[in-house]
Amino acid sequence: MKILLTGGAGFIGSHTAVELLNAGYDVVIADNLSNSREKVIDRIEKIAGKRPKFYKIDVANKEELSKVFDENKIEGVIHYAGFKCVPESTKVPIKYYRNNLDTTLTLLEVMEEKNCNAIVFSSSATVYGDKNKIPYEETMHTGDTTNAYSSTKLMIENILQDVTRANPNMSTIILRYFNPIGAHPSGLIGEAPQGIPNNLMPYITQTAVGIRDHLSVFGTDYNTPDGTCIRDYVHIVDLAKGHVSAIKYAVDNKGVNIFNLGTGKGSSVLDVVHTFEKACGKEIPVVYEDRRPGDIDCFYASVEKANKILNWKAEYNLYDMCAHSWNWQKNNPKGYDE
Ligand code: WQD
Repeated sequence: MKILLTGGAGFIGSHTAVELLNAGYDVVIADNLSNSREKVIDRIEKIAGKRPKFYKIDVANKEELSKVFDENKIEGVIHYAGFKCVPESTKVPIKYYRNNLDTTLTLLEVMEEKNCNAIVFSSSATVYGDKNKIPYEETMHTGDTTNAYSSTKLMIENILQDVTRANPNMSTIILRYFNPIGAHPSGLIGEAPQGIPNNLMPYITQTAVGIRDHLSVFGTDYNTPDGTCIRDYVHIVDLAKGHVSAIKYAVDNKGVNIFNLGTGKGSSVLDVVHTFEKACGKEIPVVYEDRRPGDIDCFYASVEKANKILNWKAEYNLYDMCAHSWNWQKNNPKGYDE
């Protein structure tokens, strides 16, 4: 069975490609490489022993995307293609709405024309906003998003609900990620943000490898045991395996199904820093700074639904996430730009 990954050359897509290939699927990747490198295709092949078919296209371009479907019998799609930097989205919201919605609408048009009816969507825990009680459950209110990136995720979830309602053959799985970190244990693929990292783990690994001279810890006065924010960090390989379970479920079922992908456990910023220090055997210099606008004290996932229905459960712990992140970064100090 052939699965298309839009934006599949990225951090989550590349790890999902490996797990899909390991599970016996054929993989097609369509990516414009705006936030990734073609070298990752070679690395996926090196790990999985099979090469994904790669198309360097803009997923929003209907003619180019239709060609992918004409040349491959695509039976399911995992849709990652989209911009994902929260701070950038607050500065250039139109760019985020244009890109994230256009890629999605073009994909849905082409899927309808080619009679492809199974889609897994890469959504985010930020659609829960900041007013829900924790742990977040899939039935909870969504909205109150605080940036254009999160708003596009919520809008796309709504678009998918309407499109699925209109097409009884459609099967849609919405996956709400918590905080994906880590890297494949081989150290051949991992997180390679362009420019200065916004997210915690790549900033820590770049500090450990000497690219950054210290980690800024944003806020120590939150309502948490050590004063720093708590998040539900989940290993990228566990997250990727969750997509394999989801696409299988999508192909075998109909309608919309929403799942949190997390561990169900919270870790503070300092928990991550201290665990990383143990994993890499070196101190991470930190500077304590003011809160970062938009951050909330604490959130983590209820994972019962994914456990029960997808038979999926995260297996790696925080130490594994830190050790594998460090293994990737120390072997690839410049990411894929070696
Ligand atoms: C985690 C904690 C920071 C960097 C974001 C997106 C979310 C998802 C995951 C895409 C916070 C603190 C961070 C640093 C720090 N992305 N921090 N120093 O904000 O929970 O979620 O990434 O789907 O949609 O919102 O993750 O890693 O940016 O921050 O102290 O240099 O680490 O303040 O408390 P976040 P993060």
